[in-house]
Amino acid sequence: MSLSIPGPESLKVLKKGPLLFKDGGHYEKLASDAAKKGQQPPPQMINAKGEGSFIIDADGNRIIDFHAGWASNPLGNANPEILESVYAALKQYGFIYEHSLRYDLAEVLADISPGGKLTRTNFEISGTEAAEAAVTYAIRHTGRPLIITFEDQFHGDSIATRMMGSNRGAHRRKGFEAWRGGVITVPWPHSFRMPAGMGFEQYTDYILWYIDTFVCQKVADPESIAGIIAEPLLSEGGNWMPHPKFMPGLRKLCDKYGWVFISDEVLSGMGRSGKWWAIEHDDVQPDLVVIGKHLTGGLEPIAAVIGTDEILAENDGHSGSTFAGTPAGCAAGLKTIEIMKRDNLVSRTDQLGKRCLERMKAWEREFEIIGQVRGRGFLLGATVINKDTGEPDAGVALAVVNEALKRGAWLIWDNETQIRLYPALNIDEDLLEKGLTITEEAIRAVEKNYRSSDYPFWTTGILW
Ligand SMILES: Cc1ncc(COP(=O)(O)O)c(C=O)c1O
Repeated sequence: MSLSIPGPESLKVLKKGPLLFKDGGHYEKLASDAAKKGQQPPPQMINAKGEGSFIIDADGNRIIDFHAGWASNPLGNANPEILESVYAALKQYGFIYEHSLRYDLAEVLADISPGGKLTRTNFEISGTEAAEAAVTYAIRHTGRPLIITFEDQFHGDSIATRMMGSNRGAHRRKGFEAWRGGVITVPWPHSFRMPAGMGFEQYTDYILWYIDTFVCQKVADPESIAGIIAEPLLSEGGNWMPHPKFMPGLRKLCDKYGWVFISDEVLSGMGRSGKWWAIEHDDVQPDLVVIGKHLTGGLEPIAAVIGTDEILAENDGHSGSTFAGTPAGCAAGLKTIEIMKRDNLVSRTDQLGKRCLERMKAWEREFEIIGQVRGRGFLLGATVINKDTGEPDAGVALAVVNEALKRGAWLIWDNETQIRLYPALNIDEDLLEKGLTITEEAIRAVEKNYRSSDYPFWTTGILW
């Protein structure tokens, strides 16, 4: 199967873009660059409908959705049960403050929180805002000005969160470097392409040592540091599972120096990793957890910080927005969690994720262009290699994503050297297998026919 994406109806919509949007000419430029080289324009989705684990584009192409609203739709697109709860809440409340659904959702979050210990909530609109809020609370709670973060994490694209995470490299911070004042950024110990011939465990030990020794003795007094914000499963930066020693090591440092441990689970939390919280894989108790995406089944913008009594019972750090914790958002959150519990979707994700990972691990042996497959639950993906250079290559990764799209599966790629697969947690098993088969066919096609100039892309292209 080779779908024509974009087809004529999608193209009609795309053609309006150059005059309408910031960087609106982006697609047109890629297409004209491709035409100059005698190539096909790159595939581009213009979506007309989301339906469970399918996307239907403007030309009627029915595509398997491994995108899931960028990992925001745990129960598939436009889940009818959640929609009904949203509609009922809108009808009953419209948008008002101090409604009782906020209390109900906060109660449920406390109940499912790591160790049942994060009993207090503050609602936000976006993951970005929630990540900033968590840092605000840590700074106000400790009275200390600095925060430790890791390169390649992603906490959002506001100025503060962009300073806290640098996935896709220095380009993201260009022109804003001076705003980093309060952030101490440390390398993330990747499991692939480790520096100086180190092994994974050695690299992990080194980073823990680096924080304890180098940061605390040469960069800042530990008593000036409020805490650490870490993704327990570094997702947006490429699905990097930490070594089992890493999160416990960070927790120990937090205990040693009185730092707040913030687990940013906007993407990896709420069941996607095969546990309610990704940090639970490492048996570590965080002080604050940042939640977003899955929280409302992808249907309403709502995010949250949950935390301990000690930090949040009395904290004068302010955060929040007009539309944080709307009635419809809280209703969607309650319904999402209810369905996830009712249908045992977290343990299902764990089991199916393990099965997918086993199948995908064979790609490392079968394909020269697959460097390392990584996965936990339905956070699945692989680093893609350029055969000619032997290096991870964002262009080759994009080629795989484009080939998969033409064959009917939509994967995630964001200017990175990885392909990522984030199915809905309730995806039909046969469809999941079919999507993996399509991905394999796409890898095979790229491995056979790829020429490095075939697929135009705009990344500065670095990293693992
Ligand atoms: C770990 C993490 N934190 C924060 C964010 C920002 O969330 P939002 O896009 O809802 O602002 C993201 C988004 O991908 C994320 O992956």
